[in-house]
Amino acid sequence: MQTQVQFLADEALLKFETEALVILLPPTAPRWGGESISELYASGEFAGKPLEMALIHRPRSWAARRLLLVGCGDKPLDALTVWRTAGAAARYLKGRGVHSMGIIVPGHPESAAATTALITGVGSGNFDPDIYKSDRKPEQQITSLTLLLNSAVEHGPVEQAAREAAAIAAGQRFARELANEPGNRMTPTIMGQRAAAMAKAAGLECELIDVKRAQELKMGSFLAVGQGSVEPPVMMVLRYRGAEGGPTLGIIGKGITFDSGGISIKPAANMDQMKFDMSGGAATLGAMQAIAALKPKINVLAIVAAAENMPGGRAQKPGDVQTAMSGKTIEVLNTDAEGRMVLADALHYARQLGVTHLIDSATLTGACVVALGNVNAGVFASDEAFYQRFEAARRRTGEKMWRLPLDGEYNDQIKGTVGDILNTGGRWGGAITAAAFLEAFVGDTPWIHLDIAGTAWLEENKPWMPKGPTGSPTYTLIELAREMAAKGK
Ligand code: BES
Ligand code: MN
Ligand code: ZN
Repeated sequence: MQTQVQFLADEALLKFETEALVILLPPTAPRWGGESISELYASGEFAGKPLEMALIHRPRSWAARRLLLVGCGDKPLDALTVWRTAGAAARYLKGRGVHSMGIIVPGHPESAAATTALITGVGSGNFDPDIYKSDRKPEQQITSLTLLLNSAVEHGPVEQAAREAAAIAAGQRFARELANEPGNRMTPTIMGQRAAAMAKAAGLECELIDVKRAQELKMGSFLAVGQGSVEPPVMMVLRYRGAEGGPTLGIIGKGITFDSGGISIKPAANMDQMKFDMSGGAATLGAMQAIAALKPKINVLAIVAAAENMPGGRAQKPGDVQTAMSGKTIEVLNTDAEGRMVLADALHYARQLGVTHLIDSATLTGACVVALGNVNAGVFASDEAFYQRFEAARRRTGEKMWRLPLDGEYNDQIKGTVGDILNTGGRWGGAITAAAFLEAFVGDTPWIHLDIAGTAWLEENKPWMPKGPTGSPTYTLIELAREMAAKGK
């Protein structure tokens, strides 16, 4: 999608030629805009309610071919509302064959934040998950977006925000494309190839750790998960170097390309959903693509631990004991608790490679979905100062997350019998005991864990986003890297 910004005086808006001009509107009719708009309000057919839409063809006194009025409600516009409204407008228009659109936000065009929300919102609505339908219409896409801002607005910050937002939207899109692929078309090997190709195009360093190398590194926990599958596991290590010295942020992602549960096999109902179990890894790669484009002054190391969790003659069994790279022994009570096992070695390896801060994203537990539903991701943090910076970054993105606790008492639930640590902590507090397991592998490195089991996939179509992969938490990861760069250590 081509994105551009134009600064125009109000009268010039009327002369702007485009296939469709989107105007975000409140419940009261604007004083400008001519009869087409005022008559629509007067008719009572349009009340400016949130996400309400009215399409006017050949509007009088406008050069645009169509006007799409989108309601925003009467509350002051926040970034999330702008983001959703822009996404909904894009979805509405592209379904009607429109390729190029302009957007006006009357009264609220100034801020860089609104610009970011508009561009990432249109990007979000522009995504189609139906890539394997033979009758899909790939030409139904918004290919050109123009933001129309008042000429009095300071140009520089908005233009910069628009360039950055395009990079963020591209990263989110890449993450969604990866997560959208089914298990047979997104194996660990294919994911590794996609990561390497992205890294090459973006100018990032990329190393793929294969089974042989993982054995040399003694990644016993990581390797155990993939051993039941004919698809070999791959650990991807990507590096972005943006500074001499300073902090190195480690971004770690769970990349289970399909989670059958292994020998502790999952029930058949909804097992297909487990093709999304590499969404944390996908977000990690999407964030790295954007970070390479945005060039924040910080070093970032990304690791995606990819494996397929399958039953089979060589699969690990409940009761097995695995030795993690750190030397800790893990008693495998349930082979379906595999995400924490691949992450254990990825977190440890990242520390060995010198990261100063760690954040991981993982579709880790059904228990997190029980606790927070599909609205908020779970956040766990070992370090207050790091959490505060994370939260400042997250707030700018509009991605919803809620902090859960990490008290020491939870560790009692995962104390081993014959080994050091159990891979499951029983029924209660399942999201927390999973986090407690990860914590055993991060040492004293400030660490944040995001359990995205409920937020990585959208179960039903929304006006602003089709059902399917959401791309979350790509944006939060990007914003955290920028936050850490802005203020140093
Ligand atoms: N990938 C799943 C988590 C998951 C479950 C995500 C349902 C979305 C919906 C994870 O690998 C898993 O199977 N977790 C188990 C852990 C249990 C065996 C301790 C779970 O949540 O049931
Ligand atoms: Mn599982
Ligand atoms: Zn899983």
